[in-house]
Amino acid sequence: MAIPLFDTKTPLEPLKAAIDAAVAEVLEAGRFILGPEVAQFEAEFAAACGSSSAIGVANGTDALELALRGIGVGPGDEVIVPSFTFYATAEAVPPTGAVPVFCDIDPDTGCVTADTVKAVMTSKTKAVVAVDLFGNVAPVPLIEALGVPVVEDAAQAAGATLCGRPAGSLGVASSFSFFPSKNLGAFGDGGAVITSDPAVEDMVRTLRFHGSRDKKTFDYIGRNSRLDEIQAAILRVLLPALPEWTAGRRRAAAHYEAAGIAELATPIRAVDGADPAWHLYVIKHDRADELAVALGEAGVEARGYYRLPVHRQPAMREWGAGIDLPGTDQLSRTNLAIPISPVLEAGQAAEVVEHLRNAINNLD
Ligand SMILES: Cc1ncc(COP(=O)(O)O)c(C=O)c1O
Repeated sequence: MAIPLFDTKTPLEPLKAAIDAAVAEVLEAGRFILGPEVAQFEAEFAAACGSSSAIGVANGTDALELALRGIGVGPGDEVIVPSFTFYATAEAVPPTGAVPVFCDIDPDTGCVTADTVKAVMTSKTKAVVAVDLFGNVAPVPLIEALGVPVVEDAAQAAGATLCGRPAGSLGVASSFSFFPSKNLGAFGDGGAVITSDPAVEDMVRTLRFHGSRDKKTFDYIGRNSRLDEIQAAILRVLLPALPEWTAGRRRAAAHYEAAGIAELATPIRAVDGADPAWHLYVIKHDRADELAVALGEAGVEARGYYRLPVHRQPAMREWGAGIDLPGTDQLSRTNLAIPISPVLEAGQAAEVVEHLRNAINNLD
């Protein structure tokens, strides 16, 4: 592809030597599990998120499950989740013993709102998972004002802010994924839970190590879910670059706007007060799939996300059947992600927009 959906390579080029050195140091030290790199990355990432603690875990799915268990979600509880998200958001709920209750999103922002959450709240609601979708930031304070704890699924939103507060610092706890294509991506799987509540931190730390605090007594059925030393060492090299990468993603979005994207399709808009860290740059168009094919033929990678929303997935039948989520249906049908990265240049954005214009003109 002349212009790929993601460019995960170019932003790493200036950091190659530092990454090699960091990995070599871990190999030399010979400590691979829960060593100094994980501890230091946890401190640095917590600070970057404006929170007091980060707990490194194996991936973003575990991070969400352990965050939910960490705040006390368990059997008999309901957890409200959006259906328009990556499947893992809802998949994290049943292993806690709770059940997922699907809510709608605002199709203009991709995120849940206080109204969509309120519509499905019951006396059993224990928590809401607010997803910072596409690097936008869900209106967490408005949802918390309903009187229910919010866990932020910030997997896609490293670097974003809401009213000046970093994504991941907004709820009682949050989860991040360091999957390689994420805004802060490792060289393999990785994740973290963020919280400023010491009791939640203690529980998540315990759960990630088999439910044990001292490695001798096992208090809970936990997990073996740890960020490993090599990934932590790499993430420590990448983290200082995150602000510049975030600025680059915002510049890329501005390039699309300057090139006239809004004349052709409707871009996802920032939630009020949010300064997104566009993980994906998503537009809406009624004939999104046809445009994706035409763009692909022109060398521009484009992809519709979550065409089958989570509540319609076979594994979610038990909790998703018979639910009407019109905003979810609209956005799952019309969304189209077009290329974005911290290094997408004005010329590339103009080229994408030109190909999109041609593709739209050629629709019959
Ligand atoms: C919104 C969302 N939640 C959760 C996850 C799960 O993260 P992981 O793939 O690291 O388990 C992802 C990404 O893959 C995601 O995009």
